[in-house]
Amino acid sequence: MAKNPSEYIQSDVKNVWHHLTLHQGKAPMIVVEGKGMRIKDIHGKEYLDATSGGVWCVNVGYGRDQIVDAVAAQMKKMPYYAASGGNLPTIEFSEKLLEYMPGLSRVYISNSGSEANEKAYKMVRLLAYNSDKKGKNKILYRYRDYHGTTIGALSSTGQPERSECFGPFVPGFVEVPHACCYRCAFNQSYPGCNLECAKAIEDVILKEGPDTVGGAIFEPVTAGGGVIPPVDEYYREVADICKRHGVRLIIDEVVCGMGRTGTMFAYQHYGIVPDIVTMAKGVASAYMPISCTVTNEEVFSALQKNTDRLSYFRDISTFGGCAAAATAALENVRIIENEKLLENVRKLGAYLLEGMKENLSHANVGDVRGRGFLAGMEFVDDKSSKTPLDENKVIAICGEMAANGVLVGRTNRSFPNQNNIINIAPAYIATKSDIDIILKTLREAVKTVLK
Ligand SMILES: Cc1ncc(COP(=O)(O)O)c(C=O)c1O
Repeated sequence: MAKNPSEYIQSDVKNVWHHLTLHQGKAPMIVVEGKGMRIKDIHGKEYLDATSGGVWCVNVGYGRDQIVDAVAAQMKKMPYYAASGGNLPTIEFSEKLLEYMPGLSRVYISNSGSEANEKAYKMVRLLAYNSDKKGKNKILYRYRDYHGTTIGALSSTGQPERSECFGPFVPGFVEVPHACCYRCAFNQSYPGCNLECAKAIEDVILKEGPDTVGGAIFEPVTAGGGVIPPVDEYYREVADICKRHGVRLIIDEVVCGMGRTGTMFAYQHYGIVPDIVTMAKGVASAYMPISCTVTNEEVFSALQKNTDRLSYFRDISTFGGCAAAATAALENVRIIENEKLLENVRKLGAYLLEGMKENLSHANVGDVRGRGFLAGMEFVDDKSSKTPLDENKVIAICGEMAANGVLVGRTNRSFPNQNNIINIAPAYIATKSDIDIILKTLREAVKTVLK
C-alpha cells in the first residue's frame, strides 16, 4: 500500500463522498481484498460477506481470475466502440442470454439498473407515440418496489423515504398496492384472499383509463423494499390484467436476474413471459458495470418503424459500447453454468430460509421470507400489533453481526417507521458451512441485542 491505513482513512474522510451515507467525519469500512465469499478491510479484519458486495451483486464471489483474465484480454484487443456498432463479446453474450429467456429476443445494453429501467420507460412511451393511442403512456409501479436513482426511476419508486426531498417528479407514474402477505393491504390472508393485491391493479387501470396506461413495472421479488416474494399465482393474474388492457409488463430483474432466486430469472418461477425485462447487478457479478433491457420481438419491431424520421428508438448509452463489460457478463454466465450454481442456490437457499425461520419463536421476529439466496427477516415490537421494531435496534443487530465477522444488509431509510428488515444475500458459491456461520451469527446477534 502506498500509504498506511490511517493516512488512507484520513484521505477518505477528507475527499470521498460515500453513497447513502451521512458522513459526520467518520470513515466507512474500507475494503482492500476479497476471495470467494470473504473480504478483508483495511485493518486486516476478515468478514464473511452475506450481502454479495453490499447490494447483492458479486454473485459468483470475489477473485474470479476467469473473468479478470478474459476482461484484460478483451481490453487489450478492443476496449470500446459505441454500441451503434457491434463487438464480438456483446454478440456472444446476447446470444447466450437469450437462450435463458424464451419469448424474448432483443438485448439493449447500458450501464446501470436505473438506466435499464429508463430505457424500458422510453420504449413504452415511444410505443404510445407511434400508435393511435398517443395518451397510453402512463406507467404503473408498486408500493415497496425500487427502480433506481435517476429522477425518472425515482418517480416510479414505491419507497417514500427514498424519493422524499427530490421532487418534483416525472408525471405519468401511478402507484399500485404492494404484495406483502405479512402486511396485507386488504386485511386478507392467503390462500382465500382472492388475490386482491393483484386484482387492485386492474382497478387502477380502469380508474386511470386503459387508454392512458401503457406499462407496468414490478420487481419479481421486491428486494430492498423488504424481500417480498409474491404468492405463486400473483404474476399470472397480473400478466392477464396487463394483457387485457394492452399494458406492457416490465419485470425489473436488477437484483434477481442471473440466478439469485435459483432460476436464471425470478419471473420464471411464476410461469409468465414479460414484454420487457431489465437487469444489472448480477449481469457480470459487478466485475464490470453493465445492464440490459431485453424485449420481445413485438416491442423491438414496433420501435423500428421510421414513420416520421424521429419515431424509432433513438437512444444511446455511451458505456453500452464497453466490449469488456460484455466479456465479463459472458464469463459470469459460464461460471454459473459450469459450477452448477443455480442448483446450489436452490438447495442451500431452502436451507438458509429454514434456518432463519427457527428464529420465529423469538418475540420480535415477525416474519421470515425469501426465495433462493434472497432472504429477509422482519422485526416487530410485538407480534399481534406487528408494530415495526425501532430502526436503531435493527441497525444494532447488523452491527453486532459485523462485529462478529458477518455482513448482512437491511432496509435503509426507505419507509417511514418501517425500516425493520434484515436481508441476507450470499454469493451463489456459499457452502453449507458458510450458511451455518451466517445463521449462528444471526441467532446470537438477535439474542444479544434484543435480550
Ligand atoms: C430492483 C432494482 N432496480 C433498479 C435498481 C437501480 O440500479 P442502479 O443502482 O444500478 O442504477 C436497483 C438498485 O438497487 C434495484 O434494487
